[in-house]
Amino acid sequence: MAKSHLDKSALIIGASRGLGLGLVEEFAVRGWHVTATIRHEPAPVALQKFSEQVAMEILDINDLNSVTAFLSRTAGQIFDVVFINAGISGPEGKTAETVTPDEMTHLFMTNAISPVRLGAKLLGNVKPGNGILAFMTSVLGSVTLSGGAYAPLYCASKSALNQLTRSFVASMKESITVLSMHPGWVKTDMGGAGADIDVATSAKGMVDVLEAKAGSGKHEYLDYRGKTIPW
Ligand SMILES: NC(=O)c1ccc[n+]([C@@H]2O[C@H](COP(=O)([O-])OP(=O)(O)OC[C@H]3O[C@@H](n4cnc5c(N)ncnc54)[C@H](OP(=O)(O)O)[C@@H]3O)[C@@H](O)[C@H]2O)c1
Repeated sequence: MAKSHLDKSALIIGASRGLGLGLVEEFAVRGWHVTATIRHEPAPVALQKFSEQVAMEILDINDLNSVTAFLSRTAGQIFDVVFINAGISGPEGKTAETVTPDEMTHLFMTNAISPVRLGAKLLGNVKPGNGILAFMTSVLGSVTLSGGAYAPLYCASKSALNQLTRSFVASMKESITVLSMHPGWVKTDMGGAGADIDVATSAKGMVDVLEAKAGSGKHEYLDYRGKTIPW
């Protein structure tokens, strides 16, 4: 195991499975200390071998009591990277014409409102200067590139996340880097078995991008290879 970055730390929100779990494993392999959040115990078996480096926390980003308790437990902790990864695909096959108000509220709370709200509350936990706050968005949130018939509500929720992140960054006083990351189309429960790449490839690419962008002080919309995506 690489031990060269043992002074570095990351907080990964939504790490029970899929890309969040892959990010925790990739940071841990690189020797980082990681705090990983899950909604429910037990912790993923894949993290048992990193027990000295990975601390688990319980957090549901939509539950105000859960967020308040989590923030009080992490108060004063400073991370090089805070990555808000949690997200859902939304009601299958639904469109603006067929979605219910409850389904739409749940989708937009989970994918757009709660991530930005949590990001704002965690600003004081991001290391000033070289620290990065990252949001897991999608290329499907690009108003320029997306726009087909596929998953219109999910696309809209990620466009909303991007727009809210831009407004949040515009009002932010802190001197940190903010990244809106597209992980690629990845083989997870959400991405499906037919996706382009596996979790390890995406996570390795995203951590390379995060390490390269530390200290840039910009807000960028990037894919897992560091390629800029138009808003
Ligand atoms: N896979 C892709 O191809 C792809 C492409 C573009 C963007 N993304 C984005 O990447 C992120 C991760 O996706 P994935 O493919 O890894 O999906 P996944 O396998 O379905 O995992 C989703 C993760 O989000 C967590 N989560 C959901 N709602 C939450 C909440 N209210 N509070 C806290 N955690 C919550 C889940 O926890 P539980 O286990 O408790 O449900 C799980 O850890 C999402 O934001 C997704 O939109 C994925």
